[in-house]
Amino acid sequence: MKYTLNEHIVVNRSIDACFAYLKDFSTIEQWDPGVYRSRKLTAGPPSTDTKYEILLKLPGNKHAAMQYTQIAINEPHQLILHGDGGSFKALDTISFTTVDANRTRIDYTAELDLAWLSPAFGWTIKPFLNRIGKNAIKGLNAALTNPSAPSRRRLKDTIYDKLIVPGTLGFGKRGYLSLPRKSHTNRMDGKVVVITGPTAGLGLAAACELTRLGATLVLLGRDRQKLDSAAEQIQAFSGCSQGVLHIIEADLSSLQATEKAAKQILHTQPHIHVLINNAGALFAEREETKEGFERALAVNFLAPVLLNKLLQARLKNDSRIVNVVSGGLYFQGLKIDDLQFRKETYDGSKAYARAKRALLYLSQDSAANHTACYYTMHPGWAATPGVAKSLPAFNKKLQNYMRDSRMGADTMIWLATAPELKDYKTPQLWFDRRPHTCDVLPGTKSKPEELQRLKNWTTATLSPFV
Ligand SMILES: NC(=O)c1ccc[n+]([C@@H]2O[C@H](COP(=O)([O-])OP(=O)(O)OC[C@H]3O[C@@H](n4cnc5c(N)ncnc54)[C@H](OP(=O)(O)O)[C@@H]3O)[C@@H](O)[C@H]2O)c1
Repeated sequence: MKYTLNEHIVVNRSIDACFAYLKDFSTIEQWDPGVYRSRKLTAGPPSTDTKYEILLKLPGNKHAAMQYTQIAINEPHQLILHGDGGSFKALDTISFTTVDANRTRIDYTAELDLAWLSPAFGWTIKPFLNRIGKNAIKGLNAALTNPSAPSRRRLKDTIYDKLIVPGTLGFGKRGYLSLPRKSHTNRMDGKVVVITGPTAGLGLAAACELTRLGATLVLLGRDRQKLDSAAEQIQAFSGCSQGVLHIIEADLSSLQATEKAAKQILHTQPHIHVLINNAGALFAEREETKEGFERALAVNFLAPVLLNKLLQARLKNDSRIVNVVSGGLYFQGLKIDDLQFRKETYDGSKAYARAKRALLYLSQDSAANHTACYYTMHPGWAATPGVAKSLPAFNKKLQNYMRDSRMGADTMIWLATAPELKDYKTPQLWFDRRPHTCDVLPGTKSKPEELQRLKNWTTATLSPFV
């Protein structure tokens, strides 16, 4: 049976912006609710012959793979793709027409060929196919329409957070998959994003997506080889040019190295639009850095705070600072008399959670005292090299339940790019594009005098480097 679906929408975006988004067909996972995951199989910028793998959702959490090949790219007017799912083939034509400078009509035609089904039985499946087509175009319309304001904190989230178990259930991939919006459509051309820890996991995933959106990236990592390999992976993913990737080497457990890296950035970047403090680590054993700081505190807290302080001159009113923390902070309060974890038997998870909580507090303090927008976010539980190394049992047990890196990086990218967040400040913790409570368990919230002591200690500790 052959059947043709025809849908169209008019969106409030320029033709170039619409085309730029759909040119990479793997963005389909962000807007078509019938698609589970998609990826570009061919490295580099999308062009004729670029191949994509699309996993369609089937009942019972099953997926069916289709391979799409880009047949034509007529910028900015038309894209043609051929899809092959074995017994199911499709020829998709996406056409773009300018309505006016800020409005575009998108026509989507899918010529379907279901060789296994006799035309006499076409009536059994046509309503189903129509529904899939309508849902897809509705999703595309939503992806290309920015909400007027970010979501507010919901009572349901607060209750779930407080009850802990329902809240943490959302930390896995189900939480991400149930998000009503997954799209990243806002161009970042000409914007500079400094990101720490871009060599693996969430940082690498965020770097990939941000360059697909056109951003220039400063990649701050500790290992030159890994940084070069990350740059290659980012180029393969988004097709960005090498010129938009600037590599800076620094081991962020060293404040001296962090200071040196910040100086290099100050020297080369007149304006930082986004600073993403993503690098983080959890250690099994207590060790101190050469400068005398417990490692988890140094990497997860002192380095991002120092970087933020040193880059102030390049952070303008429109800049955003995204501090990546962890839901683990729900379980730990600050131990203001023992920030260096010297008095208790060392517990890596506790040290990590306390350092993240300290970062949350200083991020909130910066938000209150600066014009730039500060956000802290929790990525959920994502299977990354860091989790595999530091929490092997957790990683093994929850393998099927955890997010992938791109799912974990979603809110980070959204906080860096969403126009609806412009000038929007909230001291809350962002998770899955929503603000959440910062304190769940009794006794974990610090008192104002403890926060002042944390600030004083941090200022004194960082003063040799500022
Ligand atoms: N994955 C999760 O489930 C999860 C949950 C909550 C919070 N987080 C937070 O999300 C962020 C990213 O985590 P991830 O899971 O993607 O971890 P990951 O896979 O270990 O990646 C961490 C990145 O940080 C870098 N890094 C670590 N220590 C560094 C140092 N001393 N100097 C410079 N760079 C350093 C790593 O560089 P190398 O490649 O050189 O090691 C890597 O690029 C972290 O802040 C983490 O705490 C993750």
